[in-house]
Amino acid sequence: MTLLETASAVRENAHAPYSKFKVGAALRAASGKIYAGCNVENVAYPEGTCAEAGAIAAMVAGGDTTIAEIAVIADSPQPVSPCGGCRQKIAEFAAGDVTVTLHTTDGAIMQTTVSALLPGSFDVDYMSRV
Ligand code: THU
Repeated sequence: MTLLETASAVRENAHAPYSKFKVGAALRAASGKIYAGCNVENVAYPEGTCAEAGAIAAMVAGGDTTIAEIAVIADSPQPVSPCGGCRQKIAEFAAGDVTVTLHTTDGAIMQTTVSALLPGSFDVDYMSRV
């Protein structure tokens, strides 16, 4: 399965009874393995998690730590844009030039990169005096 097919399939499993906005994410790790995640909402709203966070958690649990490529899909008017927290989470495991492909369920596509999504990101270099 392609990243898009994987993200579309896992999106069906999203638990989004509050927003009704189902999101799927799939990433290919440096090992070549593909990991998927969907949003999992909670009645205590801040406890919900995004699709990207789920895919990253699956990747780390699966023994990988480097994202080679990532795709996200939702039924949105424009290709769905990862939230700020997810941009930081993706940047933890992806180089700046890694491709992020954002999809709508209608077939619209926007391709960008990790550094374009999160310019000036805080990274471990800022902690070099610690
Ligand atoms: N959401 C994601 O899972 N990923 C995104 O990139 C954008 C937003 C989820 C969080 C929440 O469950 C729902 O979409 C509405 O914000």
